[in-house]
Amino acid sequence: MQMSCLITINQKYMANKNLNAAKVAKKDEFYTQLSDIERELQHYWQHFRGKVVLCNCDDPYESNFFKYFALRFNQLGLKKLICTCYNGSPVTGNELLLHFEGFGDEEPKKIAYKVEITEVKDENGDGAVDLSDVRYLLENDKNVMSILQTGDFRSNECIELLKEADIVVTNPPFSLFREYIGQLMEYDKKFLIIGPQNAIHYKEVFPLIKNNQLWLGYGFKGCAAHFYSPYEDIATAANHRENMIRVSGVTWFTNLEISKRHEMLVMVCRYSKDDYPKYDNFDAIDVSKTIDIPCDYDGIMGVPDTMLYAFNPEQFEIIGLGNGDLAKEIGITKNYRGRTDLAYTKEGKHKCPYSRILIRNKHPQTL
Ligand SMILES: C[S@@+](CC[C@H](N)C(=O)[O-])C[C@H]1O[C@@H](n2cnc3c(N)ncnc32)[C@H](O)[C@@H]1O
Repeated sequence: MQMSCLITINQKYMANKNLNAAKVAKKDEFYTQLSDIERELQHYWQHFRGKVVLCNCDDPYESNFFKYFALRFNQLGLKKLICTCYNGSPVTGNELLLHFEGFGDEEPKKIAYKVEITEVKDENGDGAVDLSDVRYLLENDKNVMSILQTGDFRSNECIELLKEADIVVTNPPFSLFREYIGQLMEYDKKFLIIGPQNAIHYKEVFPLIKNNQLWLGYGFKGCAAHFYSPYEDIATAANHRENMIRVSGVTWFTNLEISKRHEMLVMVCRYSKDDYPKYDNFDAIDVSKTIDIPCDYDGIMGVPDTMLYAFNPEQFEIIGLGNGDLAKEIGITKNYRGRTDLAYTKEGKHKCPYSRILIRNKHPQTL
């Protein structure tokens, strides 16, 4: 149903921002802070000039991704910004309530829709109008809002928008992360998205990392972030922030080039048998911290996931994963459960590289 130009907007703030968590079927309602988006996006500006950006899990009235790109539309030199709002998203706060002509006096409700921005007029910075104000942006005839059937990123209408996009940037529903990333790869899109850090180990994701089709962005401090959310926060008092939930183990995934991926990791340690135990089920040594990677070891090393933040494909090669079905591919058949990387077996040998990524230094020092 295309209803552009038939829309009047009634932006209404809900009194109760704290939606009962029980009403929420899947725990996908985490709204990203503008500051977190700014911190990551500063490294990618060179990619956006002349590009169509799609935020396809983003109600423009709530999403800071929309706000970020609308505010910087001209600075980034964007060609177009498309945001789609999903009708399965629960009501949480500042969302748009739409009245469509022909819908009579029905209760206003959240409807799936898209906003397409192709022009943001410069206002000489007098502060009178916030360029992230959707209502203001839509006063410009070049920008349109139109209804969607569902706004589901998997629907045909959204896939058509995906085809049009050059770069997809968002925080998608974690519960659909595998499907979401699969779709981006299927349509050969450039992207920068937030996801659970343990997705590194997903069978749909790890092969992409191994083949250098996908990598980690700069990430969040301590791999944890605060999101606006209706869910109850279980963070300690020191970590608690009003109306927010602290989520640990989150990161940015991208296939956009970033400079850190070409920086050489400085390695100061040297290999010794005593300091780097071997696993009992695979010919590799265990390196428990990235800074301890020995500069002169030419075999396979099991390193923690966080090493991927320092991964430079010119310097290292990814061999495989230490656990799960993907481990079988490289001949690890014996799998121990739990984080037992350094536990001793009866024979006094080390167990498997359970939570490790297996890498090799392409240019080990020989002196
Ligand atoms: C993690 S939240 C992030 C929201 C926003 N991108 C942000 O970062 O502030 C993911 C959003 O995707 C919505 N969503 C869930 N399933 C979806 C689907 N199939 N298609 C599009 N959006 C969906 C959720 O309702 C939720 O609002």
